[in-house]
Amino acid sequence: MRSALTLLAFAASALAYTVTEPDASTGWTTSGPNVVAWQSVSTDPANFTIVLDNQVQQPPTTQVLDALVVGSEGKITVNPPSGGWKAGKGFRVNLVADTEHLTTILAQSPQFDIVASTSSTFSTAVTATSGSSSTL
Ligand SMILES: *[C@@H]1O[C@H](CO)[C@@H](O)[C@H](O)[C@H]1NC(C)=O
Repeated sequence: MRSALTLLAFAASALAYTVTEPDASTGWTTSGPNVVAWQSVSTDPANFTIVLDNQVQQPPTTQVLDALVVGSEGKITVNPPSGGWKAGKGFRVNLVADTEHLTTILAQSPQFDIVASTSSTFSTAVTATSGSSSTL
C-alpha cells in the first residue's frame, strides 16, 4: 500500500516541471552568479516566470527574477532583483505561469539560504531579457 502511494507520487512529479537547483545544499550567495535549473517534459508550458519567494521572513517577499524563460533551456543564471540579493533563510524559487499569475505555481524548489559573500566575480551587467516592464 505504502509503496504504491510512493510510486504514484513519483509518477506525478515526473509529469511536470521540477526544480533541481537551487536546493538546501547548493543555496545561493549575495554575490552570485545564482543558477536555477529544472527538468521538464514535452507537455509542460513552453515558458514560465521565475519568482524568488520568502514566506519565512517578515515581511514576506515575492520578487520576479526572470520572465518568459524558455522551458527547454533547462538552466538559467538569474539577475539579482532591483535591490540586489539579500542574505537570509527560507527562500524558495517558484516557477510560475507568468507575471500576471504569480500564484499559479508550476514547480517549487526546496527552501534554501542566501548567504553573504563578498566575492565579486559576478558581473552585474544587465542582460536583455524579454522585458515585462518596458514602458512605451
Ligand atoms: C509562452 O508559452 C505560451 C504557451 O504556454 C505561448 O502561447 C507563448 O507564445 C509563449 N511565449 C513566448 C514568448 O515564447
